Amino acid sequence: MWKYRELLPIEKQESIVSLAEGGTGLHHCKRLGRKLGLKKLFVKNEGENPTGSFKDRGMTVAISKARELSKKKVLCASTGNTAASLAAYSARADMECIVLMPKGKVAGGKMLQIIMHGAKLIQIKGDFDQALEIAMKLSERRREFYLMNSINPFRLEGQKTIAFEILDQLGRVPEVVMLPVGNGGNISAAWKGFSEFQQLKIVKSRPRMIGIQAEKAAPIARAVKSGRDKIRPVHNPQTIATAIRIGSPVNWPKVLSAIRDSRGTAETVTDRQILEAQKELATLEGIFVEPASAASIAGVKKLSEEGRVDRSETVVCVTTGHGLKDPSVLDRLPKSQTGYNLEITDGSRLEALERIL
Ligand code: F0G
Repeated sequence: MWKYRELLPIEKQESIVSLAEGGTGLHHCKRLGRKLGLKKLFVKNEGENPTGSFKDRGMTVAISKARELSKKKVLCASTGNTAASLAAYSARADMECIVLMPKGKVAGGKMLQIIMHGAKLIQIKGDFDQALEIAMKLSERRREFYLMNSINPFRLEGQKTIAFEILDQLGRVPEVVMLPVGNGGNISAAWKGFSEFQQLKIVKSRPRMIGIQAEKAAPIARAVKSGRDKIRPVHNPQTIATAIRIGSPVNWPKVLSAIRDSRGTAETVTDRQILEAQKELATLEGIFVEPASAASIAGVKKLSEEGRVDRSETVVCVTTGHGLKDPSVLDRLPKSQTGYNLEITDGSRLEALERIL
């Protein structure tokens, strides 16, 4: 067998900074699968990580590496989850943390996490792409600020472990793995993980990688659909799935090669489809995910309806973040779903209650 250091870049056991990340559930979703005509639909629920998103897999490795490199200050631009994760892991590692975020476009739960963990929060008038540009320039000019976005190779090393776990939990290679795509780090990392297990001859094949983007923030899906080998950045991207509200993904070359090499594809989904999928997964399977994560569920719905995934195939949808991170969804739900009001002064409220039930 292999040792951990052959697969992950950490030199010394003492460097490891951990909050017990990984080991998330791979849930066979029979009810949702039945609805979509898929027998083997699985959800890898990354919201079960300590800060509620897949980012923790990458952060444990990148912060541990930062410690080995004697870094004291860490920096990221973020749509929320990277920052929440970095804030937690840097607190644990006793490092100073600075996060740059698009003002007014980060979900409330994530803001609370960042503030709670004591990070220095800087809101930028602009979008994520501009925040990342500033963060990259700052870390170039001031070397003491160590950049922790997904261009940091150690983040992706950690994130590739999702592939190891899927293979381990499933006991075989799924035909399809579907993920929401923003900056493109996660899908590239997962593909690296599947490829490494194939190189090590642990498995013989690899899945098709399918990336899902929100319709108005979909530079990757547009490039794939029109057969271009380069993306055209989307200016002023818009979606309710704020985590993937990204118009100029830095990891686009890696994403396009993962999709091409795996014979996968990319697709877009609307905000309405995202919200419907979020509700459906929560109602049918008891799994509550944030809107960006529901994009992978909306994606599998779309592709199965169009006959682009076969009903006999094993499909794994990665849900990347927990539903509690974004309570603003409550305001988007139709009134018919948000419950009944019973006046406490109503003398006949028991009868009224019985009528409702
Ligand atoms: N899903 C969630 C919940 C995310 O937070 C992100 C990215 C993605 C999917 C897309 O992953 O960028 O690797 O393609 N969030 C980043 C952040 C951008 O700053 O938290 P990706």
